Amino acid sequence: MFARNPVSARGRGAFVVRAAEEKPLGVFKLEYDISNDDKHKPNNWKEPVVVAVSGAAGQISNHLLFKIASGEVYGQDQPVALRLLGSERSREALEGVAMELEDSLFPLLREVNIGIDPELVFADADWALLIGAKPRGPGMERADLLEMNGAIFVEQGKALNKVAKPTCVVCVVGNPCNTNALIAMENAPNLDRKNFHALTRLDENRAKCQLALKAGVFYETVSNVTIWGNHSTTQVPDFVNARIDGAPAAEVIDDQAWLESEFTPAIQTRGGLLIKKWGRSSAASTAVSIADAIKALVTPTKEGDWFSSAVCTDGNPYGIAEGIVFSMPCRSTGDGSYEIVEGLEINDWLRERIQTSEDELTKEADCVSHLTGKMGGACELQGAEADTMLPGEA
Ligand code: LMR
Repeated sequence: MFARNPVSARGRGAFVVRAAEEKPLGVFKLEYDISNDDKHKPNNWKEPVVVAVSGAAGQISNHLLFKIASGEVYGQDQPVALRLLGSERSREALEGVAMELEDSLFPLLREVNIGIDPELVFADADWALLIGAKPRGPGMERADLLEMNGAIFVEQGKALNKVAKPTCVVCVVGNPCNTNALIAMENAPNLDRKNFHALTRLDENRAKCQLALKAGVFYETVSNVTIWGNHSTTQVPDFVNARIDGAPAAEVIDDQAWLESEFTPAIQTRGGLLIKKWGRSSAASTAVSIADAIKALVTPTKEGDWFSSAVCTDGNPYGIAEGIVFSMPCRSTGDGSYEIVEGLEINDWLRERIQTSEDELTKEADCVSHLTGKMGGACELQGAEADTMLPGEA
């Protein structure tokens, strides 16, 4: 089915795009042997980082892949091999994406493979960016959505378990991303649980932007912004610990009512507002935030600062229930791993809301217990009152 690309074993050179299939693919059959071109080989050439991306023919990927291929994400000295996962339906579109990557002449892009079988596409992956998921359809409850997407993440978790590097870092973007990440993690016991993330960097970026606008300062001066909890309307954008130009954001802004009653819901529902304006989910800003989330793990975090990522709660210092994927403040030394930042002030206002998001994620985990090999309780996310929202559904 899927032709593995031999070029990475050969050293620097052009890349090969290989489709899965039997039929010749014109430009995709192009191959290049570096031994013919040794004089162009830089001395400091690194081994390529293998990045697998699901939902590769979608709009988020269409922004993200070009950032990755350009070197903006993993560094200007880091060659990249892209493995693009799509569905049978998106096969032609995947080829189109690969053609555009090819036409962009990115010097760091070593190879592009496309395919529809996760066990082939995830082979030897150093990173898996799981972007593809199905949106909630009309009349569907959150439990149904969890079930439908859960099946995808069981399959992808199992495939990662079987063929990815045990050190593979997995970032789940497809919604409901926290619980999808949990499902993938529980189905991939060979991978380190610490290496599973669900994307809340988009929410962090949104929060930083709104705080900066309110304070009338440049975004760069806003730091220490945590998103707690679920990437849903229960998420908690933490203005208590946020800082602007090194000072507490709440003091700089000096408008508690705005922070509690305007800022907080605005961040929780920003995805929904954007869908109203655009007629579709955020794509470019999501891609930017995925790039930011990766960069946060591959570059050392600035002294005193942190970033948000939804990570496994096992052993967390905030007393959040173990065994869920919950957004918290993290720091990295730049080697792809992270530690949870301890000691943030959790006042009553934050505690109450963090608890709500924790309860929601615990319920989500119960709803998918049959997909995570846990005994679990009954799924309580049914019926209008219990149903909770993604940011885009508010
Ligand atoms: C977002 O936050 O923009 C998305 O997660 C919204 C959505 O529900 O697709």
